[in-house]
Amino acid sequence: MCGIVGAIAQRDVVPFLVNGLKRLEYRGYDSAGLAVLSDELRRVRRTGRVAEMEGAALAEGLHGFLGIGHTRWATHGGVTEGNAHPHISDGELALVHNGIIENHEEQRDRLRALGYAFESQTDSEVIAHLIQHYLKTEGDLLHATQKAVRELTGAYAIAVVSQREPGRFVAARMGCPLLVGLGEGENFVASDVSAVVAVTRKVIFLEEGDVADVHLDRVDIYDASGARVDRRAHMSDVSLASLELGPFNHFMQKEIHEQPRAIADTIEPVIAEGFAPRLFGAGAEELLRDVEGVQILACGTSYYAGLVARYWIEEIAGLPCSVEIASEYRYRAAHANPNNLIVTISQSGETLDTMEALKYAKSLGHGKTLSICNVPESAIPRASAMVFYTRAGAEIGVASTKAFTTQLIALFALTGTLAKLRGRLDAAREHEFLEDLRHLPGSVQHALNLEPQITAWAEMFNHKHHALFLGRGLHYPIALEGALKLKEISYIHAEAYPAGELKHGPLALVDADMPVVVIAPNDALLEKVKSNMQEVRARGGELFVFADADSHFRDSEGVHVIRTPRHVGLLSPVVHAIPVQLLAYRTALKRGTDVDKPRNLAKSVTVE
Ligand code: G6P
Repeated sequence: MCGIVGAIAQRDVVPFLVNGLKRLEYRGYDSAGLAVLSDELRRVRRTGRVAEMEGAALAEGLHGFLGIGHTRWATHGGVTEGNAHPHISDGELALVHNGIIENHEEQRDRLRALGYAFESQTDSEVIAHLIQHYLKTEGDLLHATQKAVRELTGAYAIAVVSQREPGRFVAARMGCPLLVGLGEGENFVASDVSAVVAVTRKVIFLEEGDVADVHLDRVDIYDASGARVDRRAHMSDVSLASLELGPFNHFMQKEIHEQPRAIADTIEPVIAEGFAPRLFGAGAEELLRDVEGVQILACGTSYYAGLVARYWIEEIAGLPCSVEIASEYRYRAAHANPNNLIVTISQSGETLDTMEALKYAKSLGHGKTLSICNVPESAIPRASAMVFYTRAGAEIGVASTKAFTTQLIALFALTGTLAKLRGRLDAAREHEFLEDLRHLPGSVQHALNLEPQITAWAEMFNHKHHALFLGRGLHYPIALEGALKLKEISYIHAEAYPAGELKHGPLALVDADMPVVVIAPNDALLEKVKSNMQEVRARGGELFVFADADSHFRDSEGVHVIRTPRHVGLLSPVVHAIPVQLLAYRTALKRGTDVDKPRNLAKSVTVE
């Protein structure tokens, strides 16, 4: 993970570097640092957030026309100032790195033998010394970087400055994202576009193995073989407003409340086109027509979106569907049927495990690959034959919310399309599904209006240490998502079970101190869920039930009920995702945790 920035300009670059790092903090936030070249190379590093490092940079009067910066999520080496980036070699070269270098030990031994002293426990420091070593022998920062990166195995995005060459900096990537921002007489690099939109919208996404030589007035890009290449510049449409909090207190709160809009935007092409293969790109019809089964691969919240889709795909499209955690699939001797569709789901499009699972599937002969992603031009969609971009807009809170519900829309669109291609969706049913989609933003808005009641529940969760979430069928993955949200942002231990599984173990945990949250709208399994709830009540457990009007629940002793909007039918999980998000958010607020940046986590996980 980690976020990196770099800049060369005719003005002080420190404000750009600091603001860019603040935008990238979602990628990691345990320490941060800058190295800036003015008359000499100066560095500031601090553990903690970018704001702390900013304070130190201001106090030390750091300024310069050329510099690099980093915000870290520790992998190799603990959270200390000494392990924070930039790393410096010979007092004259500074480097920032995102990724993991696998052959760092052998490189370290070699560089030690050459006389380099190591000051950190990081794998990144070896890159700084390696480039410095070649800079001394080659006398050119670009060539030195090109030579050094060829000797690295693993993943990296780097930016490097040297006091010997004050008119340029060099950046390179392999396996981690990096883009160039093109300005007027100034140029930038960053891990993602949010860090540069305040200064330029014109960006070049570097490709695997690219090395960029960045000057004031030009950026020269070389591919992995060393050949000079032209990479297309894009005009980014990310708006600055989408990166600001506006009237909200947290990005998570903002993103929860943006869901009616995010869903409406994501639905738009589906309503316009119907369930059509072209929603997934040119050539999709050919690839989707004879699909014999679906294998979904994802991590975290995206995996839970896949679990919901399994119910839809099997029921509506009549296709076998498996859903697997990407980090498990990639190391398993999976049985491949090249006629199966591989679907990767990733908000960021750069989760390493999901990317590697996709590569593994392709190596097994899978050519029908579809990515559901929220970040245009990111690595996973670029490695897939088809793509559906959700239109959630930038998601900054570490806990995924609007990305999840819009992924569900994409998966519903896929289900309808597969069903139609297989002759299982007549015009009347298609119309009915499209109407259900059309009404979804309104139902989601009604679910958001439950916030005051959910806030009252959060009061009761505040001092709990554990919680159980139950659901059945389509709503079981929503129980899983509710438990994940609660644990990751409030640090209350929470688990989810299919309600029918309760009696096979977790019931032993139920007592008056264990709140049990039940997702219980009126669906085919409601009566079964009611029996499971009786099992909890009989053991003194306190129930917190999300139920729609048709479920016929009333508040009684030990049973609290919140009426969710009636959105009967297969899209009900989208509506029921909202109250569990709000419960986690409101509980975390009561407990005073850092909602947007929960401890130990990061949003974009580009390590194993
Ligand atoms: C991290 C994030 C989660 C996210 C997961 C998968 O763990 O904190 O919110 O669900 O990664 O991320 P992806 O970008 O692949 O959807």
